[in-house]
Amino acid sequence: MVDRRPLIAGNWKMNGTRAEADALCTALLEKLATRDAHRFEMLVCPPSTLCAHVALMVGDTPLRLGAQDCHAREKGSHTGDISAPMLADLGCDYVILGHSERRTDHGESDDHIRAKTESAFSARLVAIVCLGETETERDEGKTLNVIAGQIAGSLPDGITAGNTVIAYEPVWAIGTGRAAAPEEVQEVHAHIRDCLASRFGEDCAQGIRILYGGSMKPANARTLLALPDVDGGLIGGASLIADDFWAIAESVPE
Ligand code: PGA
Repeated sequence: MVDRRPLIAGNWKMNGTRAEADALCTALLEKLATRDAHRFEMLVCPPSTLCAHVALMVGDTPLRLGAQDCHAREKGSHTGDISAPMLADLGCDYVILGHSERRTDHGESDDHIRAKTESAFSARLVAIVCLGETETERDEGKTLNVIAGQIAGSLPDGITAGNTVIAYEPVWAIGTGRAAAPEEVQEVHAHIRDCLASRFGEDCAQGIRILYGGSMKPANARTLLALPDVDGGLIGGASLIADDFWAIAESVPE
C-alpha cells in the first residue's frame, strides 16, 4: 500500500483582504495546533496580493502556502505577471496551474500549462495541475478522452510524486453546489492513475496525489475522501470559511 498523505488545499480564488486572511489563517492555525498534523497536509492558496502577508503568518507552522498561477518565464517583460521563482522567494511551496477558470478566462492551453509546470519545477515548487471536462463533454461521453488529452498535453516529462499533484475538477461541478457523484469521481481518478502509469511508470502513478475539486463541502467530503483514488481535495468556496474547511480536513479517513 503506497502512502499518499492526503492534501487538503484551499483555493481562495479572487477573494480576500489582509484582515480576512488574518482571520482565516489564525483560525486554521489554532485548529492545526490541536491536531496530529501528520494525518493530512493543509494548504492555502490566496490571491498573489496576499501571498507575502500569509507567508509571514504561516512561517514554519504545518500550514502550507501556495499560489494560484505563475508565468512560464523566470523574469522579464511580462507586465502584471508573477514568476515561479518570485513565488518561491515569498515562501510558497505549491502553485495551482491550469485551473479551468484560467483555461477559460485567460485562454490557457495545455502547452501554456506544460511550460508553467516546467517553470514551477525549476523553482522547486510543487505544481497542482488541474484537469476536468465540461458538462457538454461529459454529456457526449468524452470525459475519459478529454482527461487523457489534458494529461498528455499539460504534463511535462520529469514529473514525480514529489513535484506534482493532480486535481480533477469537472468544470460543471465548480462553484455550482453540484459535486460529481462518488462513482464518477472514482472512475476518473482511476483513469488518471492509469494514464500516469502508462506514461511515467507504475511507481510514479501510485505515488502521485490526485485531488478532487468541485463543490466539495463538509456534507460530501467524507464520502469523496474515502474513495480509493482520491488523495485529498482542492476546495474553493468552502475554503473561505474556516469551520467548513476544517470540517472537510477532519473528514479525511483515519
Ligand atoms: P468550489 O471550487 O469548491 O467552489 O467548487 C473548486 C475549485 O475551483 O478549485
